Amino acid sequence: MNSYRIKNRDDYDRHYRRGREDAKNFWAEIAENFEWMERWEKTQSGSLTNVDVKWFEGAKLNITVNCLDRHLKTRGEKTALIHEPSDPNGAVARYTYRELHHSVCKAAHMLQAIGVQKGDRVCLSMGMVPELLITMLACARIGAIHSVALAGLESKSLADRISDAGCTVLVTGDGAFQGDKIIPLKDIADEALKNCPSVKKVIVHRRGNCHVSMEEGRDLWWHEIFDGMPQEFDPRGMEAEDPLFILYTSGSTGRPKGILHTCAGYMVWTAYTFDNIFQMQRDDIYWCAIDIGWITGHSYMVYGPLLNGASLVMYEGALEYPDRGRLWEVVDKYRVTHLYGAPAIVRAVMAHGAEATKKYDLRTLKVMGSVRNPIAQKAWLWYCENVDKEKCRILDTWWQTETGAAMLVSFTSITEQQHTFEGRPLPGVYPVLLDERGKTVTGNNVSGNFCIERAWPGMARSIYGDHRRFEQTYFKPYPGHYFTGDNYYRNELGLFKIKGRADDIINVAGNRLGTIELENIINQSEWVVESAVVGFPHEDKGQGIYVYIVAKGVEEEEKLVDQIKATLEEQIGIFARPDKVQLVSALPKTRSGKITHRILRAIAEGNPGSLGDMSALLNPNVVEEIRKAVISS
Ligand code: PRX
Repeated sequence: MNSYRIKNRDDYDRHYRRGREDAKNFWAEIAENFEWMERWEKTQSGSLTNVDVKWFEGAKLNITVNCLDRHLKTRGEKTALIHEPSDPNGAVARYTYRELHHSVCKAAHMLQAIGVQKGDRVCLSMGMVPELLITMLACARIGAIHSVALAGLESKSLADRISDAGCTVLVTGDGAFQGDKIIPLKDIADEALKNCPSVKKVIVHRRGNCHVSMEEGRDLWWHEIFDGMPQEFDPRGMEAEDPLFILYTSGSTGRPKGILHTCAGYMVWTAYTFDNIFQMQRDDIYWCAIDIGWITGHSYMVYGPLLNGASLVMYEGALEYPDRGRLWEVVDKYRVTHLYGAPAIVRAVMAHGAEATKKYDLRTLKVMGSVRNPIAQKAWLWYCENVDKEKCRILDTWWQTETGAAMLVSFTSITEQQHTFEGRPLPGVYPVLLDERGKTVTGNNVSGNFCIERAWPGMARSIYGDHRRFEQTYFKPYPGHYFTGDNYYRNELGLFKIKGRADDIINVAGNRLGTIELENIINQSEWVVESAVVGFPHEDKGQGIYVYIVAKGVEEEEKLVDQIKATLEEQIGIFARPDKVQLVSALPKTRSGKITHRILRAIAEGNPGSLGDMSALLNPNVVEEIRKAVISS
């Protein structure tokens, strides 16, 4: 067990206090648990005010040494990775820590052989296969920066990500399984690469047995290079603040943001939080049922578990394929003890819990972790009543791509828990609620914009290629603080509960969509004069999408509504399909002509009583008109 494991409530209080009052020694002691090529000179420097935070400056390390090499002596033959294929009858792949180490070294040689060097950006667009995890670690071994793009992105989105990061290499697959379909990864890549001159080489991993075309001189088959490579590769010594990876997330303008994480701070933070949240024992089996292409997959499927020497399950396919019992079948098959996923998992237990518990042996489960969306009250209460919560705890965790790993957690065994609250801050996380003017909201049972007032090791360091945007988005709203963009409620126990996004991002089932991005697409229709998009609470998806449109010259309104829905789905993805589209005669605006999303959001949320001050509106009459139309619809 690591020396940084929090064992009980007193321990938590002590860690929490030390993380604030004696932060440098606190983090230095935690960092002693890792292997460094050179020790750090300064534990932390820089500030949130200057947006130049650094951790463990002067240190040299390679994160893969800490994920793999350092475990070889004590757990070389322990299972590191079990890969469950999409096809329930397909072949399972297993890797011990030693085998995974060999594979990562071989992949590092493979990348080096095609010219990848320290600092190069490598885009990974693959299905959920072991080779995706292996390639990420191979990049880290060399010192190249990985940028994982979700399998299934449209070719234009893939091209945008590749170009923004200036990737020189793309590692992809022939196809990726998604339920009974195959995503044609290579075809999508070929289309994207028409607009990405920076990419010189493409490695294609064969998985789907799809027919693909290979471009002479550019495209290479994975197996033709990987198989003959040596099993040892000297890890590159990385500076603490060298970039480890870029991960794209939507922003409030059309352009996605390449969130940048660096080597040392991310390693320490991810390992520390993973260990304390999940509190795994040596023989436990962990399964993160979320795609690697999200931050959750990076931190809590790859780096966090491996840094702690855990055994992890990686599942290739769709959770309900070939049927709804698949989730439980996998838990049963590998005797999973710790399951981590979106709240849909808790809902799934509710939907077929009784049936599932009869058919599958779920007695091994100790922890059911959740992230990305609030757990609906109904599902949480059901769970508490129907599942042996003493044996299998629900654990909510709140965090963001930008925070690197979890910040709030409802860990029951250590501190009190209250259903629907995301919980307490981990040691090292010092949140404050601020009002619109930047004044701290004190007391209990209060709400405000959720900000963090101290630097923590795993925080993002920049937006790739656009540090100014990083400053503007997260640090300018409340100088000296990191602004999460979320609005939060805090109760008398000091537990936090999310109220929604404070800015203009909608989170649909874990997909963050900029409202401006959606409006830009809608406004391209020749029938649309202008539009406004807002989010509203949605029982299943966390938030749904509500679109208001001012249209001109439309003969069949229904056709336009269908067209708007289809366009968003086509251009962004199924999750961007709006739940409601309402045609209105005008949009409420301020005198300076700015659309007041705040009012439209209140109407969409069904809270017309909280429309607030309308004195600054150019056209207050229109609000009443829209509201009436909603009520009568
Ligand atoms: O709004 C919060 C929501 O997801 C946002 C972050 O999204 P992303 O960067 O994609 O990372 C998601 C997974 C780490 C947050 O600003 N969110 C995250 N966790 C929770 C949540 N909302 C409610 N409950 C959570 N547990």
